[in-house]
Amino acid sequence: MSTDDTTDTAAASSTESKCGTSSTDTSSESDCGAASDSSSASNCGASASDGEKEVGATVEDFEGDPGRLLAVGLGPGEPEGMTARAKAALADAEHIVGYTTYIDLLPDDITDDADDIYSTPMCGEVSRTEEAIDRALAGNDVAIVGSGDPNVYALAGLALEILESKGGTASAVDFEVVPGVPAAQSCGARLGAPLVNDTVSVSLSDHLTPMEDIESRLHAVAGEGFTIAIYNPWSRKRRENFQRCCEILLEHRDPETPVGIVHGASREDEATRITDLGTLPELGEEDIVDMTTTIVVGNEETYVWDGRMVTPRGYETKYDY
Ligand SMILES: C[S@@+](CC[C@H](N)C(=O)[O-])C[C@H]1O[C@@H](n2cnc3c(N)ncnc32)[C@H](O)[C@@H]1O
Repeated sequence: MSTDDTTDTAAASSTESKCGTSSTDTSSESDCGAASDSSSASNCGASASDGEKEVGATVEDFEGDPGRLLAVGLGPGEPEGMTARAKAALADAEHIVGYTTYIDLLPDDITDDADDIYSTPMCGEVSRTEEAIDRALAGNDVAIVGSGDPNVYALAGLALEILESKGGTASAVDFEVVPGVPAAQSCGARLGAPLVNDTVSVSLSDHLTPMEDIESRLHAVAGEGFTIAIYNPWSRKRRENFQRCCEILLEHRDPETPVGIVHGASREDEATRITDLGTLPELGEEDIVDMTTTIVVGNEETYVWDGRMVTPRGYETKYDY
């Protein structure tokens, strides 16, 4: 197994490509030579620098038949939380590409069996996804991995967008999304049964969505009484977003509304707490609320019973029990 990091990739010249790009590829940053946005790997500020870069290689730069590209969801973290389909897909993959933290979550037998592992730190999403695509276009069977599900604030859409911008097609690389258990569901399970009725997810990350849009979405969903799963609730750069989110929720909901906080579901540092909305603003600076936390805000029917959050489905309105 080899585990690269972004800092290592500058050493790979196009002639040393592991993935067989043609010699027209001149990038010095990628094993496949396509990534052009190294700056994004070290900084995920809101400048959208990733998005403004052009893709490196296009389909014309690759010779031979393409391999496969799978976007694989790992679930919350522990190997037991992966689906059998995800495990099989990773066992079959020749190259596995992902954010370093997620690569570290993979069982050793999977990483040991892969021909190559390509990992980069947080915020290199575009370059990492492009790397995965280039490796597939060059004939390798590639899995790009992420936590939870590839369709939930993750890379499945980005992979298709970049593939299209390179002049490729999803069919040519036999693109497939292998679903995983999303954080809302993993965290909901830890809290009891808080998601049993209509639920909406909101991400507080303003890296790609302006904060004013996030605020209007929060007003809309809090006002409509959904259970809310809050992703990306806090980071050092996002302290104010968390506080603004709490203010908006408190404009629409009773301070006694149950709130469940799950940090690192299924990971070694897992922590769970059930509190109420009035207390939530005070918890922004506590360890339990960070970038690996999902917060579940109950609806007006949600209650706490025996240490569990319960959101009734509505059976009680039709049945006696
Ligand atoms: C970029 S999103 C990725 C979501 C992922 N694709 C999913 O389906 O869960 C990252 C956010 O997911 C949530 N998250 C991911 N893994 C988690 C875990 N093990 N426990 C709690 N929240 C988690 C956190 O809110 C984190 O900020």
